[in-house]
Amino acid sequence: MKGVIFNVLEDAVVAEHGPDSWADLLDAAGLDGIYSSLGSYPDAELLAIVDRAAATLDQPVPQVLRWFGRKAIPLLAERYPRLFEQHRSARSFVTSVNDIIHPEVRKLYAGAACPHFHFHELDDGRLAMAYRSQRQLCHLAQGFVEGSGDHFAETVAVEHISCVHHGEPVCRLALDWAA
Ligand code: HEM
Repeated sequence: MKGVIFNVLEDAVVAEHGPDSWADLLDAAGLDGIYSSLGSYPDAELLAIVDRAAATLDQPVPQVLRWFGRKAIPLLAERYPRLFEQHRSARSFVTSVNDIIHPEVRKLYAGAACPHFHFHELDDGRLAMAYRSQRQLCHLAQGFVEGSGDHFAETVAVEHISCVHHGEPVCRLALDWAA
C-alpha cells in the first residue's frame, strides 16, 4: 500500500484522537512508522494499525475502516483539489473513480495497485458498485463513498448487499443518492 494512505490515516487519527494517538498506535502495533508518500509498504502494516485502533476503541475493524475512508476524503481533497474541482456531485465524483481518479493516482504514485469497480443500475434505481480486490477493503470503499457525499454536501446511503467477508464471491455496495 502506498505511503500516502498511511499519511492520510495518520492525519485522520491525530485530528480525531490527539497528537500522541498515532505514536501510541504504532507502538502497540510494533511498527517504526516511517512512511514516505511515494513509498510502498506491506498491506499487513496498515491492517496492524487498523487492528490496534479497533482494539483500543473497542470497535469492529470494518467500522474503523469505514471511518477512515470517510475522514480520508476531505484530506485527499486538500492534497488533490484538482481531482475534485471538476465534479459538481458525489455521483459524478464516485463514478469517475475508474476512469479519472485512480488513473491519476497511478500517474502520481508509480506502482499503486488501485481497485477497479463495476457500476450498474439496480431495478430499484440505486447504483450498484461491485468491488473485487485481494485486499478485501470493501469497508474502506464504503467510507470513501460516504466521505464523497460529505464533500458534496449530500447524504449518500450505502448498503452492503453482498460481501466477501460473508462468503460471497464479490462485494456489492448499493448507493442511493437521493437519501
Ligand atoms: C469514491 C472514490 C474512491 C474510492 C471508492 C476508492 C477506493 C479505494 C480502495 C478500496 C482502495 C484500497 C485498495 C484496494 O482495495 O485494493 C484504494 C486505494 C487507493 N486509493 Fe482510492 N478510492 C477513491 C478515491 C480516491 C482518491 C480521491 C484518491 C487520491 C486522490 C485515491 C487514492 C488511492 C491510493 C493512493 C490508493 C492506494 C493504492 C496502493 O497503494 O496500491 N482514491 N482506493
